[in-house]
Amino acid sequence: MTMAAIALVLPMMAQPKLTKDNIDEVLAAMTLEEKATLVVGSGWGSMIAGITGGSQILVSGAAGTTQAIPRLGIPNTVLADGPAGLRINPTREGTKQTFYCTGFPVGTAIASSWDVELVENMTKAMGNEVLEYGVDVLLAPGQNLHRNPLCGRNFEYFSEDPVLSGNISAAYVNGIQSNGVGVSVKHYAANSQETARDHNDAQISERALRELYLKNFEITVRKASPWTVMSSYNKVNGEYTQQSYKLLTSALRNDWGFTGIVMTDWGAKDGTVKAVQAGNDLMEPGMPFETQRIIDAVKDGSLSMADLDRNVRRMLEYIVRTPRFKGYKYSDKPDLKAHAKAARAAATESMVLLKNDGSVLPLDGVKNIALFGATSVDFVAGGTGSGNVNKAYVVNMVQGLENAGFKLDESLKDFYQKYVDFAKINPKDIPLGGTGILLGEAKVEEAPVTRAFVESKVAGNDLAIVVIGRNSGEGADRQVEDDFDLSATERSLLSNVCNAFHLAGKKVVVVLNIGGVIETASWKAMPDAILCAWQPGQEGGDAVADVLTGKVNPSGKLPMTFPVQFTDHKSSYNFPLGNEPSGTSAFSFMGDNTRTSVNHVDYTKYEEDIWVGYRYFDTFGKEVSYPFGFGLSYTSFDYSKPTVTVAKDGSITANVLVTNSGKVAGKEAVGLYVSAPAGGLEKPAKELKAFAKTRLLAPGESQVLSFKVTPYELASFNEAANRWETAAGTYTFCFGRNVNDIPVQFKATVKAAQSFSVSE
Ligand code: BGC
Repeated sequence: MTMAAIALVLPMMAQPKLTKDNIDEVLAAMTLEEKATLVVGSGWGSMIAGITGGSQILVSGAAGTTQAIPRLGIPNTVLADGPAGLRINPTREGTKQTFYCTGFPVGTAIASSWDVELVENMTKAMGNEVLEYGVDVLLAPGQNLHRNPLCGRNFEYFSEDPVLSGNISAAYVNGIQSNGVGVSVKHYAANSQETARDHNDAQISERALRELYLKNFEITVRKASPWTVMSSYNKVNGEYTQQSYKLLTSALRNDWGFTGIVMTDWGAKDGTVKAVQAGNDLMEPGMPFETQRIIDAVKDGSLSMADLDRNVRRMLEYIVRTPRFKGYKYSDKPDLKAHAKAARAAATESMVLLKNDGSVLPLDGVKNIALFGATSVDFVAGGTGSGNVNKAYVVNMVQGLENAGFKLDESLKDFYQKYVDFAKINPKDIPLGGTGILLGEAKVEEAPVTRAFVESKVAGNDLAIVVIGRNSGEGADRQVEDDFDLSATERSLLSNVCNAFHLAGKKVVVVLNIGGVIETASWKAMPDAILCAWQPGQEGGDAVADVLTGKVNPSGKLPMTFPVQFTDHKSSYNFPLGNEPSGTSAFSFMGDNTRTSVNHVDYTKYEEDIWVGYRYFDTFGKEVSYPFGFGLSYTSFDYSKPTVTVAKDGSITANVLVTNSGKVAGKEAVGLYVSAPAGGLEKPAKELKAFAKTRLLAPGESQVLSFKVTPYELASFNEAANRWETAAGTYTFCFGRNVNDIPVQFKATVKAAQSFSVSE
C-alpha cells in the first residue's frame, strides 16, 4: 500500500492513543505497515525519517531512534552509546550551548573494583545524563567475555570470568535503570573479536557457550532485568545471533525470564524475517527495505502475523516505559561537576597496584618528579569507537600530579607537550598508534629519547614516573608487536630511566594507562612500583594522583590474567592476527600451518573450549605474570574463621572474617572459588562463584564477608544430557586474595545431586 493509500484508509480506522494500559487495543488498531515500521528503526543517527517523514534530529549524535506513529500516540524513542558514558555530539548548530557528557572509567576498570555498590553508584550518575539529555536507552554495558587479550573492544567489556562480568554488569544496569531509562546489554553473544566481526562464525562447544559466553548475560538478565539486549554482528555455530531462536527466545526469554526487547547491532543482515521469527524485536539502525521485507513476508505467508504481533507488543511495552513516552521534560543540563566526582571515585577504586617494592608507594617525602612518557600528556581516558565519550576535558598525568602539589621537571613537561602537539598535527611524521574506528583520538606513539637525556633528569628530581599507554577500539583487534608487547622505544625508555635513577638511589614508578592486558613479565623486575590505572575516564590524572599519594588506598584487583606471554593463552592459537580483511591470502593464525587459510577469517574455532583465562592457567599449573584477582594494597589483610553451611535445599552460605592487619585503612575484595568433587564432568581446578568487598576497614578492624551460592550456580553443563548438573559430594570453598592465593578454605558436602533442564 502506498503512503497516500494509507492516508485515505487511516481516518476510517480505530485510533486509540497508546497508554500503558491499552497495549492490546493499540496493537489491534495497527496496520501491517505500521507494525513493520515499529520494529525497524528510523536510520543511522537520530534523524527521524521513515513513516513519519521529516528530518528533525532528536538528540544530535545519538546512534539511533525507533519510529513514531503519531496517530496512535506512539513517540520516537532515542538510543545512544555507550559503556563509559553517554555518547552524543557535544555541540549543535544554532546554539552556543554544549552537550558534553562525563567520561567515566572503562568497563575493564570498573570490573577491577570488584565492588557492585561502587559500580551501581557510578552508573546512577551516568544514567542521569542519559535522562537529562533526552535519551531513552543507553547502548551499554558491553559484556563480551575476555576470551583473548587482543580483542580490540576488551576495554569496554569486564572480565575473563562470567561471574565477575555478570555481577558487575547487573550492578551497572541497575544503576542506569534507576533513572527510569533503559540499557541495551551487548553484544549477545560471543562477539569476542573485532576481525570480520560482521560475519565471523564463532564455533563454540555447547558447554563453553553456556558456562562462559552466555553465563554473564544470564546473570545480568536474572539480577537486573535490562530493558533491552543487543544481538551481536557475528554468528554462533553457523547462525547469525540475531536470527537464533535458541539464543533470543529459548535461552534469553524462556530460561532466564527476559521480558524486554532485543535489538540488532547497527547494520542490516539478509535474514530480516528470520530475525523477527527468532525474537529479534527491533532492527537497528533500520532501513526501509527491512520494513518492506517484513510486509512482503506477512503477505506471502512466510512470516506469521502472530510472530510479528508478539514483537510489536514487546515494542509497545518498551515504549510506554520510556521518558519520551511519559513526556519527561529533560533539562540538557545534567550536573557534570557532581558526575565528575563519581567518575574520579570509581577510577581510584578500580586501579590495581601490581608491584610496590620497599613500599615506595604511597609517595612520601617526594616533591620533584621526573615524569616520562608521551602518555603523561596524551593520557587515554577511554578507548575509541562507539565506546568513546565526548567529554569536556581529560585531566592528564601532568595536571593530576601538579594538582596534587608535586613539582614536575619543567624540561620534560615541555618536551612531551611539544612532542604530542607536533604528532597530532603531523601524524605522518609521528605515527598515531591505537587501532579501530577512530571516534575519539588515536594515541601518540612513544617518543624516542637518549640515555644521556634521561640521565640529565636524575639530579634535579626525587623520583621518576614512567607512563605507558595503549588505546584500541571498535573495528580492529590489537596486535602482539608494539601493542601487547612493549615497543622497542618503550623498553629503552624504561631501562634507561630505571638504570639512571637506581644508580642514584632513586625510585621508579610505572603507571599503566591501558584498556586491556599487556606483557609485563619481561620488564616488571625493573621498576620499584607498578600501578595499573587502566583507562580511568576524564578525571584520570587526578585519580592516579589520589592513589600515588595514598589519599585513596588501592583496592582494585585484576579481572583477568596477565600471562607471561601472549601465546600462553590457549585461545591465542585461534585468534586472528594481522587484521587483514576476509579474502586476503596473508591472513594467518598462531597455530599450525594447516590453519593458515584465507577462509579462517570467516570462522573462529574456540578450540580452547572451557579453558579460558584462569580456568586454564590454574588447572594446568601454567605460570602467569599476574594471576586473575591479583592486586596489592598499602595495608595487609588476614583471612580467618571460614565457615560454609549447606541448607536442606542445597543452597550454600559461606562466611569469612577479613581483618585489616596493616597500618592504614583499606578495602579488600575476596573471591569465593569453588573446587568440585572429582568423578563427574571434567572441571576447572576452581571457579569463581561469588565475590564481595569489605567496607573501608581501619587498622585492626574486621568484617565478616558473606557469600551465597545456589545449587544451580554450582552446576556445570553436561552436553550429552543437555542439562545443567550439580554433582553430589564434597566441595572445597576457597576464600581467595586471588585465584593463586587462598589463605583459608572450608570443605562442605552437597548431599543430593541436582539437574536443571534448558529449553529447546
Ligand atoms: C557497535 C555497538 C554500538 C552501535 C551503535 C555498533 O557499531 O558495535 O556497540 O552500540 O554501533 O553505535
